[in-house]
Amino acid sequence: MNRIVIIGASSGLGQKIALDFAASGWTVGVAARRIDRLEQLRERYPESIHTEAMDVSTPEAVDHLHDLIDKCGGMDVLLYASGTGWHNPELDAEKELRTVGVNVDGFTRIVTAAFKYFAQNGGGQIAALTSVAGTKGLGVAPAYSASKRYQWNYLQAIDQLAHAHGLNIRITDIRPGFMNTALLAEDPDRSRLPMVMDVDYAARRIERAILRQKHTATIDWRWRALCGLWRRVPNFLWRHLRAMM
Ligand SMILES: NC(=O)c1ccc[n+]([C@@H]2O[C@H](COP(=O)([O-])OP(=O)(O)OC[C@H]3O[C@@H](n4cnc5c(N)ncnc54)[C@H](OP(=O)(O)O)[C@@H]3O)[C@@H](O)[C@H]2O)c1
Repeated sequence: MNRIVIIGASSGLGQKIALDFAASGWTVGVAARRIDRLEQLRERYPESIHTEAMDVSTPEAVDHLHDLIDKCGGMDVLLYASGTGWHNPELDAEKELRTVGVNVDGFTRIVTAAFKYFAQNGGGQIAALTSVAGTKGLGVAPAYSASKRYQWNYLQAIDQLAHAHGLNIRITDIRPGFMNTALLAEDPDRSRLPMVMDVDYAARRIERAILRQKHTATIDWRWRALCGLWRRVPNFLWRHLRAMM
């Protein structure tokens, strides 16, 4: 059975990955707030795409997840692609808290529900689009970088939990570098950002990581190399760098 549920499929990476899986014959459940955009996807693959309006920052999101799983006839893979974040050196508290609402609260809500679903239904795979931004705290995007680090550690923790309980649940942490999606559109520095990837290019690599059930995958090799360097910068030096989101 090939059934994938993608949370955050109304634009960017989630949308592209949903279309690619549908084109490959998978049953695809798509969720996000903008239901009109999800319906446009369903019009392209009416037999295989199912839709559900969902705001992950609300408690009702879990009921919507279960409704979507029912529409798909079950779920083998959950992909959490919802995400938000801002270039926010002004520390606008509203932006920081909205980031936490989607990348921490919403992520936790959906991933815990998926974990329990798989625990009760013979197993499955939980994948999430985190980010290279989790590598270090970034002064220009505090909540975004911190929320991505949270996602990394959370996925690692539930991977250990699944092992401890002998559950057949595979965890895949996908960490992309910059991509030219709506998420970057508001960044005032976007024209200066390095190594920005096309959505098609990044989606192909992300899909491969999901299908190969990788534990972690940094997209792409250039970002993997850069993150290896970032990780080695000691904190007393990091403090002096003007790091980009
Ligand atoms: N673009 C990059 O450079 C980059 C780099 C590394 C990692 N990522 C990560 O990749 C993931 C996908 O982002 P993207 O670049 O494809 O950006 P995007 O085009 O802005 O897509 C974000 C998706 O998240 C959904 N979303 C936002 N708030 C939501 C909410 N409250 N409830 C439900 N869904 C919500 C949006 O749907 P609605 O607005 O319709 O709800 C949309 O489908 C994110 O986790 C992002 O952090 C992006």
